[in-house]
Amino acid sequence: MHLVTLIPGDGIGPEITESVKEILSSAKAPVEFEEVQAGEGALESEGELLPLKTLQSLEKTKVGLKGPITTPIGKGFRSVNVSLRQIFNLYACVRPYRSMPGIASRYENVDIVVVRENTEDLYKGVEFAPNSKETRTISELTGGAVSEDAAISIKAITAHASERIGRFAFEYAKKHGRKKVTATAKANIMKFTDGLFYDSVRKVAEEYPEIPYNEVLVDALCMKLVQAPENFDVLVMSNLYGDLLSDLVAGLVGGLGVAPGANIGDGMAIFEATHGSAPDIAGKNLANPLGLLLSAVMMLEYLGEMDVARRITKAVETVLADGRYVTKDLCPEGVTTSEMTKAIIKALD
Ligand code: NAI
Repeated sequence: MHLVTLIPGDGIGPEITESVKEILSSAKAPVEFEEVQAGEGALESEGELLPLKTLQSLEKTKVGLKGPITTPIGKGFRSVNVSLRQIFNLYACVRPYRSMPGIASRYENVDIVVVRENTEDLYKGVEFAPNSKETRTISELTGGAVSEDAAISIKAITAHASERIGRFAFEYAKKHGRKKVTATAKANIMKFTDGLFYDSVRKVAEEYPEIPYNEVLVDALCMKLVQAPENFDVLVMSNLYGDLLSDLVAGLVGGLGVAPGANIGDGMAIFEATHGSAPDIAGKNLANPLGLLLSAVMMLEYLGEMDVARRITKAVETVLADGRYVTKDLCPEGVTTSEMTKAIIKALD
């Protein structure tokens, strides 16, 4: 039995969490949940967006399943998602995107995993505005290459983090029987930073001669992905390109609606749907549980529970292909969250 920290989250979070709990229990997944709070609900009941109890539970179980969290509007709130990534050093953001029966999209044969570095690059937030408190002038900071009226942002790429994400991508490919790893960057222009990224991943690739490896410049990759997504398998990249390409590839399979995701570090992982808390439909029994359910499937695979993961995936595919018991976001005559949940449970072999 695996002990897992469960964070239902806000908005539709509790409804889709209930659905996932029911399906996992019916599938006899060997998982026991320790339920804790984070987000707006936690702020109201415990006075904190990310209570200590929640962090302690994650520290203990090392595996989390998390519903969407509303970021309160107003200053002074750090995103819970960003905080969790930083506190537990969850350096790899993993998003598998696969064409599914019954989900409308322009392509039918997409099966791509986006592996994004989560900790550095332009997202470090090291920026200087023309009138910032920085005492050196922009010209001094940039050796005269940039004019005084510019705002600048620092792109930090390290060999350590690039090798780490490269190794993660190859290990993922090995574990999941994937056929190829493609690294992407813009090393022809950013020769030092993106050049270092390529050099680092290339070095790791040599340790995995059985997995083909190639590099495609990020602009060309955007074009090639929309032309022939079937040519790509595992994609690995730094933070900013990963942010953009995750959404591009989501678009190839019909959007973010049912996309699962995970943030993974060494010996620690948090799995979560990629959509938000959908306040417009919260509490109405209308939410599609698949984003969180497929994240739970990723979690089961991470825990080595391949058979139950496969059975749940198959049940989901059966229900999607049938098309009668899916929520309204997938079909206008759709059913409720509870009805879709029942249909998935019935389809389990
Ligand atoms: P959203 O993803 O919550 O909603 C966008 C649209 O998609 C809405 O019409 C919503 O009804 C629909 N939708 C989303 N998930 C659905 C589901 N499972 N089933 C059926 N329909 C679904 O994005 P929005 O409105 O921009 O954000 C709402 C809140 O969620 C914000 O506070 C935002 O900060 C937060 N958020 C949290 C995320 C997380 O915790 N991982 C990710 C994205 C947003």
